[in-house]
Amino acid sequence: MAEFDVIIIGAGPGGYVGAIRCAQLGLKTAVVEGRETLGGTCLNVGCIPSKALLHASHCLHDAETNFAKMGLKGKSPSVDWPTMLGYKDDVIGQNTKGIEFLFKKNKITWLKGWGSIPEPGKVKVGDEVHEAKNIVIATGSEPSSLPGVTVDEKVVVTSTGALALPKIPKTMVVIGAGVIGLEMGSVYSRLGAEVTVVEYLDAITPGMDADVQKNFQRILKRQGLNFIMGAAVQGVEVKRGKATVSYKLNKNGTEATLDADCVLVATGRKPFTDGLGLDALGVEMEKRGQIKTDGHFATNIKGIYAIGDAIVGPMLAHKAEDEGMALAEILAGKSGHVNYDVIPGVIYTTPEVASVGATEEQLKAEGRAYKVGKFAFMGNGRAKAVFQGEGFVKILADQSTDRILGAHIIGPAAGELIHEICVGMEFGASAQDIALTCHAHPTFSEAVREAALACGDGPIHS
Ligand code: NAI
Repeated sequence: MAEFDVIIIGAGPGGYVGAIRCAQLGLKTAVVEGRETLGGTCLNVGCIPSKALLHASHCLHDAETNFAKMGLKGKSPSVDWPTMLGYKDDVIGQNTKGIEFLFKKNKITWLKGWGSIPEPGKVKVGDEVHEAKNIVIATGSEPSSLPGVTVDEKVVVTSTGALALPKIPKTMVVIGAGVIGLEMGSVYSRLGAEVTVVEYLDAITPGMDADVQKNFQRILKRQGLNFIMGAAVQGVEVKRGKATVSYKLNKNGTEATLDADCVLVATGRKPFTDGLGLDALGVEMEKRGQIKTDGHFATNIKGIYAIGDAIVGPMLAHKAEDEGMALAEILAGKSGHVNYDVIPGVIYTTPEVASVGATEEQLKAEGRAYKVGKFAFMGNGRAKAVFQGEGFVKILADQSTDRILGAHIIGPAAGELIHEICVGMEFGASAQDIALTCHAHPTFSEAVREAALACGDGPIHS
């Protein structure tokens, strides 16, 4: 008999959540993790620490710009960077210890070390080989490199280095106007750095609804971020602790350079599958380096599965979590399922940006007949009371059936508000279903209802 029913390699959101569900469903479960702490990139050097720094820098911004307006007088706080980093590390610690507790509670074995798969049914960790009926690869992703750019995590950093800079840089260049670039660029801009974002495309946040892209960029510019759009970074040179970024404009080939104390490379991530032994096993891969899986997360090798950033789909912690839970159910003989049409995406800047489902551009490309209901936060009393009247809620609904096809929000608590739409979409809701639901006053959520009303007879407050 195998030692374990399931061995999961990787304790990020996909792996640890999947492990907990496996254990809850009665499967004898182990997780291989080589980091000192559980939680993967997300908890240790990603989602959670960046949210701590976003929160701290937002508080500073609020104190500098809004406190006096509310009659809160006195000196603005100054930044004690080591303490701020300590607060961030404390938040990480609380969360990683929380997972350790959950592992103990659910009797999940933590196999400490880096795992490989010498043959189907076996996982090697250090010198030990463990047997399992099922092996799940949940090894996540790593920053993808850019030709001509050498990351040293001191002057030229990825998101990992950006979360632990020795001091706040005076000047920072961010390569890539995606989620990481804008979240971390916002943090350092609010903490006093002069931040310039260099982006290859003509719009920020690729794949987002164009309305949101434009509005978001306008807001970020007003907040002090500089943008050089349509520019391909050619290389970064570091001399005596300072960087020079060279780029070429796509429209006319003009070449130019930018000097900076720090360069953040945020040009995407790639699956992390090194050292697992997948080549030798003959595991089929996709062209872009992801592990190929069927609709049930199975690879072409019997008993080996993969989830999260290591397979196709959006590289999002919650997508990995859902896949982990669904696979656990499948392995326990139930029917696990992930609805890829309803996976929200959130950017945790201030204001937040959130979206789910189709963008207007996608609907146009598909030739779908749709209607747009839009409501600006300027018409929302609660938003104005907290200096967050920027942005809007935009709901896209089918022209004839009124079924919600997508929603895009930029504004206060957008990352929370989007879930009302997600639940609605899971239930096949129409915009009218949201519009007819009583929403408490005064809440930001009323803006969602108003956008839903805008899909029908019209909003009240605009
Ligand atoms: P991204 O794919 O979101 O954005 C990368 C950007 O870099 C693109 O706009 C691209 O056009 C640009 N770019 C690429 N090469 C370039 C070049 N040579 N010169 C200039 N610009 C160039 O990637 P990002 O921000 O690194 O994030 C990686 C992954 O992590 C994403 O899949 C993201 O969804 C995920 N993530 C999600 C978060 C969230 O949900 N809040 C937070 C952080 C990361």
